[in-house]
Amino acid sequence: MHVVRGKKIEVLFSPEEIARRNEELASEIAKGPSRDLLVIAILKGSFVFAADLIRALHKIGLAPEVEFMTLSSYGTGTVGKSVKMVKDIDSEVKGRDILLIDDILESGRTLRFARELMLERGAANVSIAVLLDKGNKREEALEADYSGFHCPDKFVVGYGMDVAYAFRELPFVGVVTGDA
Ligand code: IMP
Ligand code: MG
Repeated sequence: MHVVRGKKIEVLFSPEEIARRNEELASEIAKGPSRDLLVIAILKGSFVFAADLIRALHKIGLAPEVEFMTLSSYGTGTVGKSVKMVKDIDSEVKGRDILLIDDILESGRTLRFARELMLERGAANVSIAVLLDKGNKREEALEADYSGFHCPDKFVVGYGMDVAYAFRELPFVGVVTGDA
């Protein structure tokens, strides 16, 4: 249990657990299509995970190109929800092996949007790495190729993820449980 700016935060995944899992994910990724690898981090939530994962890839000899795409969900309710492109990548994807990196796979809408866009643009292969999988919240037929941890059905923060713009800087993944 940590107290951060007056809030109690329960640790779900520690920095050590995350670092160990990132190394395992990197070696799984290295066994997949990774010849001319273009890694695309889906901002904002994935920036810390992506930064650690690409360095874990470097440790085992991979040298991916790294790009960033900002996507956001808009609309409410199950049917009205959609994904909007806020900032696109600059690189050409035609014929390349793409690895999409996101913090959490929940309904699957965000990553489905990104994957379909890459396939439309002619990517040779699109795979997906997520730190956390909220498997029971899926609304699209989409699974990650590489998944760090199963995430309980709770709103998590830290390690890049925020609630109302706060707590991205925490080195662990946690849940806000109340006021301290
Ligand atoms: P999906 O499109 O429903 O799969 O939503 C995935 C996106 O929702 C992730 O990229 C996150 O940005 C965000 N998200 C989902 N659950 C959480 C959470 O518990 N904390 C922070 N962000 C979350
Ligand atoms: Mg996100």
